[in-house]
Amino acid sequence: MRFPKTQVIALVNQKGGCGKTTSSVAIAAAFANLGYSACLADIDPQCNATESFGVRAESYVEAGRFTLADAFIRKRAATDIEADFEERFQGRLTILPGNRGLNSVPLKLESELQIAIADGEKTTLDADEMRGEQRLRLKRSIDALRGKKDVVVIDTPPSLDFLMVSTLIAADWFIIPVFPSGYDLKGLELLMKTVSKVRERYNPGLRLAGVLLGNYDRTATLDRDIHQLLKGKFGEEVVFNTTIGRSVRMRDATVRGMTVFELPEAQAQAQQFVALVQEMLNRGSKRKDQTVNPLPDEAVFGKVANG
Ligand SMILES: Nc1ncnc2c1ncn2[C@@H]1O[C@H](COP(=O)(O)OP(=O)(O)O)[C@@H](O)[C@H]1O
Ligand SMILES: [Mg+2]
Repeated sequence: MRFPKTQVIALVNQKGGCGKTTSSVAIAAAFANLGYSACLADIDPQCNATESFGVRAESYVEAGRFTLADAFIRKRAATDIEADFEERFQGRLTILPGNRGLNSVPLKLESELQIAIADGEKTTLDADEMRGEQRLRLKRSIDALRGKKDVVVIDTPPSLDFLMVSTLIAADWFIIPVFPSGYDLKGLELLMKTVSKVRERYNPGLRLAGVLLGNYDRTATLDRDIHQLLKGKFGEEVVFNTTIGRSVRMRDATVRGMTVFELPEAQAQAQQFVALVQEMLNRGSKRKDQTVNPLPDEAVFGKVANG
């Protein structure tokens, strides 16, 4: 580990198709590439993040291995769920695989609760407390990686439901990815409302790492306007200066089951994610003493995140 403390970073936006999966995979790979230990948690029942590494999500279940669904259903620690890619990524990147069964997790937990009440183990008065405990299961599972990984990156489904709330409770930071084409101000406001409720009730330390504009065409006026508009709405420092350019290479990599770091013709895309991670690291050092530190300062990033 290079950071003094593990940083859990979630990519959140209840809108589909705004770069959550692409960014979470590339951010985790960028950290690994820079020499950090990283774990990617795939909490989306669609399992796009898991499959973008070229593995079938079902293969973990078929092999009798745990997936992220077991963090909820069987309260398994992330250390029991974690799968590696052997020598790929120099062994610095692992995954908490997704599972289509994540779809039915809220239903299963609700019936678990109803059964406990029907059997007389709990009363209806305990229901709120039990739901609160269920929302903490992902956090408890992922906390097992604290002190073991530099970063845990969480890819989330396109909704604000139980899985998203569980993620926001488990995270130290969240990044909001936005595509200029799908920009939705009302949606972002609703997301921020959810975030403030989570902060109030469960996770006061949850912080916005930044808004990330992807699928960005710098030659298009609309795209530049939206970058400015986001800066106006969230603040100049909150919106990342690094944008991720529009490129078919991004999809190519996913289709071929590789990250942009592993595809020679996608090195320009990989470098954008390295630049993004470096901007995050620099922000960590900037916030402390208000001076621009051009080098990543691991100690400060850790302190800012937790202090
Ligand atoms: N920079 C980019 N340029 C072009 N296409 C992109 C870029 N980033 C993502 N995409 C494509 O856009 C689609 C949605 O991205 P994805 O990361 O899956 O979004 P989400 O997880 O939010 O649904 C995917 O088909 C992906 O390949
Ligand atoms: Mg996705």
